[in-house]
Amino acid sequence: MGKKTDFLYLNEQEMIQAGVLDAARCIDVEEEIFGLLSKGDYVMGGDSHNSHGIAIKFPAISEFPNMPLDGPDRRFMAMVAYLGGRFNVAGEKWYGSNIINPQRGLPRSILMILLNDPDTCEPIALMSANLVSSVRTGCVPGVGTRHLARKDAEVCVCVGAGPVSKSCFEAIRLEAKNLKEVIIYDLFKEKAEAFAKTITEKYGLKAWAADSLEQAVRLGDIISVAASSLAPVNMKNDWLKKGSLIIFTGRCNIDEEYFSSAKLYWDNAKMHATYYDEHLQLPEDQRFINGIGVQVYRMMYNGKLPPLSEAVSLGDVVVGKKEGRVSDDERICFITSGMPVWDVGWSYEIYQNAVKMGLGQKLLLWDSPYLN
Ligand SMILES: NC(=O)c1ccc[n+]([C@@H]2O[C@H](COP(=O)([O-])OP(=O)(O)OC[C@H]3O[C@@H](n4cnc5c(N)ncnc54)[C@H](O)[C@@H]3O)[C@@H](O)[C@H]2O)c1
Repeated sequence: MGKKTDFLYLNEQEMIQAGVLDAARCIDVEEEIFGLLSKGDYVMGGDSHNSHGIAIKFPAISEFPNMPLDGPDRRFMAMVAYLGGRFNVAGEKWYGSNIINPQRGLPRSILMILLNDPDTCEPIALMSANLVSSVRTGCVPGVGTRHLARKDAEVCVCVGAGPVSKSCFEAIRLEAKNLKEVIIYDLFKEKAEAFAKTITEKYGLKAWAADSLEQAVRLGDIISVAASSLAPVNMKNDWLKKGSLIIFTGRCNIDEEYFSSAKLYWDNAKMHATYYDEHLQLPEDQRFINGIGVQVYRMMYNGKLPPLSEAVSLGDVVVGKKEGRVSDDERICFITSGMPVWDVGWSYEIYQNAVKMGLGQKLLLWDSPYLN
């Protein structure tokens, strides 16, 4: 007789009951994970141990009528990680993204997480992960704000009014203790207006929708960019004021001149080095086109910035190995592309809460494995 295996299934409502929306807690958990990243107590995919994940990218045209075609934010993706420390768990986030989904009453991307025992490899939990992913994505800028923003930052600019931008704002708001005003810019002004209205109603903050990107960015102490790739987000060096922190959670371009004076931080420079190497394997004309940090990669490739081996990761700032902000005048750019370690760490925390609260449904894998 072999060993019985079952695992916990948690739907979206149960994830909420177990605390997945608790951004304040998630910022602390992510700060702890940044410490593990700095120590090296994690493994992500690929030979580099630092791959963001592997994507199914569809072709532009296909002879097969059912095959999906390429488009903005169109992909399936598997993101895998082992996370050490008190977590000691392996897992995978698996998702698909289709930009037209909102017209069908669905989120752009639909995500699930599977957690596994790192020793026996048995599944521990299968979970709805849309909220894990959006909260964990937003909380990275929260940790960035804690360590890199001016303490007296008063104006937050949000570029994009989609779910990711909203969760970034939720976390930034918790860390920017002197926040007084929020300015939102979205290609669709009505979306920005609706977001501004919610912020004012929920938090009593002054919030308004800008007519242009420039108008918004010029006023920002903290600028959070989380727009989709419907249209490029292009900024000029002189729009970014003294002391500002800009956070790229989505793709953004700034005049190259900006990077000669601004300080640059990464969520994990080793993962970006892996991305960079992947770009080098592409034909010359396809390199550095897609991805959140590609403008900076291109500058590195052209020798205009030091290489990623010399870049500073936020984890090293969190544990005190490297300096963060040292003056109220310096301009800082923080680039975060997302990593499966956040998904695995935050979902494991929620799984542990769910177990304590008796939430979820036990599913049987087998009473005894047939192929034992
Ligand atoms: N770094 C990470 O960890 C991470 C994780 C998930 C998603 N993302 C990024 O976040 C982006 C947004 O995700 P979402 O789910 O909120 O997408 P979404 O499509 O639901 O919403 C994006 C919003 O951005 C707006 N937009 C697009 N181009 C714009 C532009 N040039 N200027 C202003 N607004 C613009 C759209 O109108 C839309 O309202 C994704 O495209 C993805 O690249 C990053």
